[in-house]
Amino acid sequence: MKHVTRIQDLGPEGVEAVLSQAAAWKQKDPGHIFPGKLLGMVFFNPSLRTRTSFEAVMLRAGGHAIVLDVGSGVWKLEDRPGAVMNADRAEHIKEASPVLSRFVDMLGIRTFSQGGGDEEDEADPVINAFRKWATVPVVSMESAREHPCQGLADALTLRETFGTTKKLPVTLTWAPHIKPLPKAVPNSFLLSAAAAGCEVRVAHPPGFDLHPAVRAEAEAYAKATGGSITYTHDQDEALVGSRAVYAKSWGPTAQTASTPTDVAALLASYSGWMPTRRHMAKAAKDAAFLHCLPVRRNVEVADEVLDHASSRVVDEAGNRYHVQRALLAWMRGG
Ligand code: CP
Repeated sequence: MKHVTRIQDLGPEGVEAVLSQAAAWKQKDPGHIFPGKLLGMVFFNPSLRTRTSFEAVMLRAGGHAIVLDVGSGVWKLEDRPGAVMNADRAEHIKEASPVLSRFVDMLGIRTFSQGGGDEEDEADPVINAFRKWATVPVVSMESAREHPCQGLADALTLRETFGTTKKLPVTLTWAPHIKPLPKAVPNSFLLSAAAAGCEVRVAHPPGFDLHPAVRAEAEAYAKATGGSITYTHDQDEALVGSRAVYAKSWGPTAQTASTPTDVAALLASYSGWMPTRRHMAKAAKDAAFLHCLPVRRNVEVADEVLDHASSRVVDEAGNRYHVQRALLAWMRGG
């Protein structure tokens, strides 16, 4: 049984297999490849792209998706082993995951960071509880640590734009926001880009380092694929000559539930990091702009970047459909 809740479940070979299949099926629709199959989708938080793209994949492939919104029509779920369940979480994942497995052929889980800090996010307790107790394959629709489907869509978009990802210079740049955000998307972009052989430059202000375990994993992929990874606090330096600029906000390294979130101070300190055309002008002439969406316009990214011809954000979102169809097929054995 193949679960995919992190890029590590695919490795560089699996990433390549999924990207190749996604590209091929994007050219020639494979039709009903999941006839009569059911995907159960458990959402702990809102979604536009993930929800719609997975539902579309299942319906167009001859299957069906059952969507469950935790806390809204479905019991609030507990993940902690040994929890005394005397608050609002009425059901434990230890029962919910195997029970759902009796009804569906695959389970998709969408859960963010619970705000317990980087170490808790690294442990990824909610999705790992589902993974532990499910008796059908579990696919991540984003969790505290990673958003692998987003990372795959990002890599497919780079491949389509430039023909190859091998040794492609790309910059992952931190961007401002009104609140500290989880690191799942930057983690998955870094891991996917490294697994696809890119030369990744990561730029962020001091104090916003990605988790050492994620960086070590990405380094291993880069070593295996001929790519490379560099880190800098100098955004301009990272942008020079980049063929793609990927903007994403994320929270400070020591972020926990009790970290003060002085939004005004954060924006005031780092508002210059918001990508504008001035930033894009430092990159290569044909540089593409990427963002996972949703994006807060003129806080995280300037209108002039999102509305420019070089922006691939809508195509990138559209590629979620194509990589997820290929990924589910890969999980089911190809
Ligand atoms: N990028 C992404 O996962 O979008 P949604 O939150 O809308 O699903």
